[in-house]
Amino acid sequence: MISHATIEKNVGLMAVLIVVAIAVGGLVEIVPLMFQAQTVQPAPGVKPYSPLRLAGRDVYVSEGCYGCHSQMVRTLASEKLRYGDYSVAGESVYDRPFQWGSKRTGPDLARVGGRYSDDWHREHLKNPRNVVPESNMPGYPWLTQELVDPTLIEHKMRMLAKLGHPYTEADYAKVKDEVTGQTRMDALVAYLQGLGKFDKEAAP
Ligand code: HEC
Repeated sequence: MISHATIEKNVGLMAVLIVVAIAVGGLVEIVPLMFQAQTVQPAPGVKPYSPLRLAGRDVYVSEGCYGCHSQMVRTLASEKLRYGDYSVAGESVYDRPFQWGSKRTGPDLARVGGRYSDDWHREHLKNPRNVVPESNMPGYPWLTQELVDPTLIEHKMRMLAKLGHPYTEADYAKVKDEVTGQTRMDALVAYLQGLGKFDKEAAP
C-alpha cells in the first residue's frame, strides 16, 4: 500500500493518480448518459430524416453553417422567449453529428422550421441582404446549380440504418422519386423547414 506521504513527495506519481481519479470520475458521469432512455431514444414525434432533408443536412454541414449557427435552445427564459421551447437530447438522436454548437454569429436555428416561407429562405440563402439589409451572413448562390445525388443518399440511409436509424426497404425505394432533379438549395430549404417541427404530443 502506498502511503499518503509517498504520494505527496512524488509529483510524477501524484499526477498519474490524479489523472486516474479524474478519468474514473468522468466515466462515471458520462457513460450512464449513453444508455439513459431520455438521451438515446427519440423524443415523441421525432422521426429519421426523409431523403431530401437528409441531403439538406449534408449541405448544412458541408457549407459550414454551424460556424455561425447553433441548434440548441438553452433552458433560459430569454432563449425560450426568443426561439421557443428549449431543446432536449431526444430531438437529436438522428443527427450524426449533432449540430448543437454554441457559436452564434447568427441566431439559433433549432426552431426555425415554418418561421419563414420557402421563398424567403431561397432569397435569403442566395443573398441574405435581399431580405435582411443589415445581414452579414454570406450568400450561397451556387446551391441552386448543383443537384443532389440519389445514389449517395440511399447509400447514406443504408449506412445510418446499420447505426440504428429505423429506415426500411420502403424508405429506400422512395429516394429516387424524392430527390432526383432536386438542387442542393431545395434540400437545404426542406431541411431548415423541418427544424423543430416534430409533434411533441404524438406518441413515440
Ligand atoms: C458568417 C456567419 C454566418 C454563416 C456562415 C451563416 N449564417 Fe445564417 N445568419 C447569420 C446572421 C448574422 C444572421 C442574422 C441576419 C439574417 O437574417 O441574415 C443569419 C440568419 C440566418 C437565418 C434566419 C434565422 C432567423 O431566425 O431569422 C437562417 C435560416 C440562416 N441564417 C441559415 C443559414 C444557413 C443554412 C447557413 C449555411 C448555408 C448559414 N446561415 C450560414 C450568419 C451566418
